Amino acid sequence: MKYGHFDDAKREYVITNPKTPYPWINYLGNEDFFSLTSNTGGGYTFYKDAKFRRLTRYRYNNVPTDDGGKYFYIKDEDTVWSPGWKPVKTELDSYECRHGMSYTKFKGSKNGVQAKVLQFIPLGFWGEIQKVSIKNTSSKIKKLKLFSFVEWCLWNAEDDMTNFQRNFSTGEVEVEDSVIYHKTEFKERRNHYAFFAVNSSINGFDTDRESFLGLYNGFDTPDVVADGKPKNTIAHGWSPVASHYIEVELHPGQEKDYIFMLGYVEVDENNKWESKSIINKKPAKEMIEKFNTVEKVAIAFNELRVYWDHLLGKINITSSDEKLDRMVNIWNQYQCMVTFNMSRSASFFESGIGRGMGFRDSNQDLIGFVHQIPERARERIVDIASTQFEDGSCYHQYQPLTKKGNAILGGNFNDDPLWLILSTTEYIKETGDFSLLDELVPFDNDTSRAKPHFDHLKASFYHVVNNLGPHQLPLIGRADWNDCLNLNCFSKDPNESFQTTGNKKDGQAESLMIAGLFVVYGKEYIDLCKQIGKNSEAVEAQNHVNNMIEAVKKFGWDGDWFLRAYDYFGKKVGSNENEEGKIFIESQGWCGMAEIGIEEGFVEKSLNAVDKHLNCDYGIVLNSPAFSKYYIEYGEISTYPAGYKENGGIFCHNNPWIMIAETKIGRGDKAFEYYSKIAPSYLEDISELHKVEPYVYCQMIAGKEAFKPGEAKNSWLSGTASWNFYAITQYILGIKPSYKGLEINPCIPSNWKGFKMVRKFRGATYNIEILNPENVSKGVKNVWVNGLKTNSNIVPILEKNIEHFIKVELGK
Ligand code: GLC
Ligand code: GLC
Repeated sequence: MKYGHFDDAKREYVITNPKTPYPWINYLGNEDFFSLTSNTGGGYTFYKDAKFRRLTRYRYNNVPTDDGGKYFYIKDEDTVWSPGWKPVKTELDSYECRHGMSYTKFKGSKNGVQAKVLQFIPLGFWGEIQKVSIKNTSSKIKKLKLFSFVEWCLWNAEDDMTNFQRNFSTGEVEVEDSVIYHKTEFKERRNHYAFFAVNSSINGFDTDRESFLGLYNGFDTPDVVADGKPKNTIAHGWSPVASHYIEVELHPGQEKDYIFMLGYVEVDENNKWESKSIINKKPAKEMIEKFNTVEKVAIAFNELRVYWDHLLGKINITSSDEKLDRMVNIWNQYQCMVTFNMSRSASFFESGIGRGMGFRDSNQDLIGFVHQIPERARERIVDIASTQFEDGSCYHQYQPLTKKGNAILGGNFNDDPLWLILSTTEYIKETGDFSLLDELVPFDNDTSRAKPHFDHLKASFYHVVNNLGPHQLPLIGRADWNDCLNLNCFSKDPNESFQTTGNKKDGQAESLMIAGLFVVYGKEYIDLCKQIGKNSEAVEAQNHVNNMIEAVKKFGWDGDWFLRAYDYFGKKVGSNENEEGKIFIESQGWCGMAEIGIEEGFVEKSLNAVDKHLNCDYGIVLNSPAFSKYYIEYGEISTYPAGYKENGGIFCHNNPWIMIAETKIGRGDKAFEYYSKIAPSYLEDISELHKVEPYVYCQMIAGKEAFKPGEAKNSWLSGTASWNFYAITQYILGIKPSYKGLEINPCIPSNWKGFKMVRKFRGATYNIEILNPENVSKGVKNVWVNGLKTNSNIVPILEKNIEHFIKVELGK
């Protein structure tokens, strides 16, 4: 069952039934100021940091779900309704929610009145616009009452939810003209306030929640709306809100527009006050002035569209599969930008008060957006590398506001350092900007310990070399990519965190996943060394990589697939000898991508084993059989019920590793089968089961051993977005930036006749046409660059600012 449809021309998903199986959300904002908005108007707004600068309140895991947001109430005689259906939930005559690129539109109608709401955040602006257009479609005069509503959060979202003994006394507001100001804590250390404005005169307002709603009512039945009369309250403590009241009279056919603005202002210490206790409103008024007419709003909205044209214009494909095109051209790239902005902080599954930026997550996310915003990617790499230590180890997370490593969580996740080689080499291949390697980047955020960025990569590489275990395989530390495989943890106490507990010291547990990762990024490191003339370093590094390959072949092969690890006691993990967890996806992916034992048939065998034991109707599960009991020596992985998360769930982040490994042995049909199994646009028809948005990837789909296979969770913020984009564009469609040009090496389903890609690369436009007359999956036979036949499948760096035409023929 579907709840809407794609509108590709507008780059929108159109939801036509408000009762989606879960709130289907969108993100507004591109730089400093952001909102999350659901298909029924739920969500919240923050400046930069969802924990420390939360403007509006949100209650997680609420009953009913997704209650609280930025709402409008329309009272038309005795009928009260909302354009986005919630919170009132009056059955609408029509409902539509369009989630687009950083904007959302609602259109609802009831009893001859149509209300449209456009929500977006203008580029570079610290405020959200909500343009409300109300139209009388009936033949009688309509006298309507419009109420707006937001509930303020007292800035620190965590404190706001916990510290009521203080918070119920601190709330302060001011109201002047049509603007409601939220100035809680402004009197003391804060240099910022928020406001909610409308560009028309108002007939009243409310700022005290209890007065507006009534203590025992929900958002669906506010007393004030039911009475049709505001109380003009000024909040003192308790819970400040902002609600405007406007009387709207419309003749038949008449439409009126109102521009609401939810804004954030910072003022410097000396200019905080206009007069005693009265805040300086000048900067807010300037902001309001900027967008107080529909014309000004239209211009800003168009600028946003142009911005997205530009970002999405860098990679654009035309294939015979519209589901593929809409993923690659629109939604997958959009999601990659959202993960750039949010990392893992704020979604409907991440509360915005928990995690900082992950070291490994942020490096991996980068491969999904580096082509769109290379300058910001470079800055991100430097921020991440600055939290590393001289020995290559690093903090597992850092805080976006301070950019400092998070000491409470610490480090010792031994895969972390290697991902820096991934992000850096992908950045240089995309941009050609080798100067990053010379930039002085601090260790542990201490500028006196800064070294050229290249030294960070070297430290990353040798961190593995210097931390090998008894089988000459990498020590796992607290965990590798799989946060839940905690082989040194041994926790019996439910109050301990698996991720930070290590009850067994001097652990010798080893990871085959890190081994594969090391070979892949070790080769990248060697290649980079050669590019910059560090030839002796390349030779030295090659020895270490060769040793690792040998160690994997000798100690890491189980007969039909790669082992996952050796545990604390030196016992095999992910072996046919084990009772449960016989085979794991990660080591098959990474050792396959590393091509370890490809000549001996290891890669093909292991991928066949993946197909046989891990592949299911909805994707590839992480391990099989899933653990049915708690294994203290494995840690958190065995705590999840079978089929969920890291215990036999389809953890979508790692499926593309198998897709890429499949392309290494030329199996384009298999690679694409795996791609389309988890790509959201292919799941639209089973939305009822899948549950989360059909336009973005989710972290996890319940696996074959779960209670409800195919049911998904944790949409939006996941490395799944970047890895799938990387796998489809660079390995399946096979158009890959390299130091010397664009490498073309598709591995596609054999029945495809070809496809086209427009790729902006190093300032030039490559119009690439791939033809597949012999129905092969892989193999480049002929290449023409601007009409001239060449003998290499690396199309060189071509003249900037002009269009180039590349034709590629696949064949045997
Ligand atoms: C989550 C984490 C990521 C980890 C993965 C597997 O996605 O953000 O760091 O690698 O889970 O445990
Ligand atoms: C991690 C990951 C997640 C994992 C969890 C375990 O950060 O997000 O996939 O299940 O933490 O605590």
